[in-house]
Amino acid sequence: MKNVVVFTGAGVSAESGVKTFRDSDGLWRNYRFEEVASPHAWNTDPELVLEFYNIRRKQLLEVGPNPAHLALVKLEEKFKVQIITQNVDDLHERAGSKNVFHLHGEIRKSRSTVDPELIYDIEGWELKLGDKCEKGSQLRPHVVWFGEQVDGFSAATEIASNADIFIVIGTSLVVYPAAGLIDFVPDLSPKYLIDPKAKTPWGIQNLTVIQEKAGKGVPELVESLLNAEK
Ligand code: OAD
Repeated sequence: MKNVVVFTGAGVSAESGVKTFRDSDGLWRNYRFEEVASPHAWNTDPELVLEFYNIRRKQLLEVGPNPAHLALVKLEEKFKVQIITQNVDDLHERAGSKNVFHLHGEIRKSRSTVDPELIYDIEGWELKLGDKCEKGSQLRPHVVWFGEQVDGFSAATEIASNADIFIVIGTSLVVYPAAGLIDFVPDLSPKYLIDPKAKTPWGIQNLTVIQEKAGKGVPELVESLLNAEK
């Protein structure tokens, strides 16, 4: 079975009703990320940080996967599919995708502030000041903030370097190191980029740019890949 590696950003969840970051109605148009998604914010106003993620977690529980998430599950009929997502939502998992790797963390989990190995599922939508890990320290959202290291990047590059087919969906490709993942994909492997505002990245070989929304572009691409595979 061929390896298909799918790299997703906020755009894959947009049609589910999850806001992206940099579109005209995006989250970073209404919030300054330094004030809600950085170690400095956590040290100065943890309540505001918790509230920012609580609101997003609550909204996430009210929506579901869209046709793009569902089509990627169908791709598993004929391919070994590994999803690498920048998204902190769990819509790939709720759609049924088996292998999902979260590069920027998971909003429905919390993490100890003294021991990063202690990670917990959050019941419901709220994480509060005073919610503590088993070692007695405050829990924080299990997400990567600006200024923090992306610990999973090296594992992600390993996955990308084994891609027979690489599909990028709904990302502005401006946040590094994640945006550089495509550089690790073998030159000869076909690559697809699905995003209504996609620009052709410089110097990438065997790339097809599909300027469509994920809800249309992904099911169409999945159908054609399944049909072409004996
Ligand atoms: P952005 O908000 O930067 O980009 C969203 C992309 O999705 C844009 O290129 C849009 O054109 C595209 N888009 C919008 N609607 C779409 C649709 N229906 N179908 C397909 N594409 C659509 O989001 P990301 O690239 O995911 O990091 O942002 C990368 C990182 O920046 C995030 O993981 C987050 C953020 O700050 C951290 O939190 C560390």
